[in-house]
Amino acid sequence: MTRNKRRATMIAQTHDDETKPRSLVPPIHQTATYYFNTLQEVQKAFDFESRDYVYTRGNNPTLRLLEEKITALENGTDGVAFASGMAAISSVLLSLVKPGDEVLFHRTLYGSTYSVGKVLLPRYGVKTHFADLNLLRDEDMAAYSRVKVIYFETPVNPNLEIIDIKKMVALSELVGAKVVVDNTFLTPYFQNPLDLGAYAVVHSSTKYLNGHGDVVAGLAVSRDQDYIHRLKFDYMAELGGVLSPFNAWLVLRGIKTLHLRMERHQANALAVVAFLKEHPQVTKVFYPGLTSPLIGGQMRGTGGMIAFELEGSVARSMAVVEALKCFRLAVSLGDIESLVEMPAKMTHYGYDKASLEAFGLSEKMIRLSIGLEDALDLVEDLSEAIGAHR
Ligand SMILES: Cc1ncc(COP(=O)(O)O)c(C=O)c1O
Repeated sequence: MTRNKRRATMIAQTHDDETKPRSLVPPIHQTATYYFNTLQEVQKAFDFESRDYVYTRGNNPTLRLLEEKITALENGTDGVAFASGMAAISSVLLSLVKPGDEVLFHRTLYGSTYSVGKVLLPRYGVKTHFADLNLLRDEDMAAYSRVKVIYFETPVNPNLEIIDIKKMVALSELVGAKVVVDNTFLTPYFQNPLDLGAYAVVHSSTKYLNGHGDVVAGLAVSRDQDYIHRLKFDYMAELGGVLSPFNAWLVLRGIKTLHLRMERHQANALAVVAFLKEHPQVTKVFYPGLTSPLIGGQMRGTGGMIAFELEGSVARSMAVVEALKCFRLAVSLGDIESLVEMPAKMTHYGYDKASLEAFGLSEKMIRLSIGLEDALDLVEDLSEAIGAHR
């Protein structure tokens, strides 16, 4: 899909609700259940022979609209909405493995995803591996012959490493595994993993897709229609991680401005990166293309997430974080407001100290989610906070 077409898709309202009045903005179908006139209708709906709705923990027109929208944006065949990014991630992982299977994760991941891989899946007889996927070669795959899923984020949370999706797809084919990519950081505006051969894409739509910090939501998309049907009815509906219609409506509203927000998040981030790179007390800046090479053609932008490290002690970094005024000290990301956090103390708290060190996640690392404020205000705020605590 070209960039212009993508923008048009984002702006267009695709809902085809022919009920009167024809509201420009789709209604919120705030209902738990749907009534039938006859048991014959019931039978058809339960056999998936009609498009009638039965119960919102299974299907709802507002959720369906969101699923159709993310499917179009990710160039997929179908998608499922979930109550959170973690509901999407855990359901996708559970749906692709059985006891005795193995999953290969990139070693650095969002903390809760790491916990699912480290603690939860092994409890159900699924062995999990954590490796630096950037170092993986064809000959290493012999050790991963039971791997059914290769799972990673790109860019990686929190150190913004880039993982080569096409390369992972080629490696996965050597062992018959499927590649699942968390596309939360770049969104379909900047990256489409399915176009590069990934089997499924997952999102925390709590973040940029919604963009306003007022919803927790998740999405999964694939080109395998049968798989999405199973994911929806055997996992989302049965485990029960259903998104509320109101939250789906808010994400739909957020997506209308995704293209505008992503451009501004990125422009602001580039201004902050330029400042941090030149600052004599900043020892490391993590941003796509800086610490990890960009993979040509994989991404159309570098996004709005940055991490950095300062000279001096952990206590100094903590003091700087607390002194910031434009950045709120909070987990989450992708909001209009700029946010700051320390991964080792917050989003990646689930990692033990040894793993943090081994994976290069310093206790001093500061992660920024760059918002939509004036870039000069953000730079000034950082400059003052760093200057005030030496
Ligand atoms: C990259 C990434 N994936 C998944 C999640 C989990 O999403 P949620 O909080 O919507 O469950 C997060 C949350 O921060 C995240 O950063």
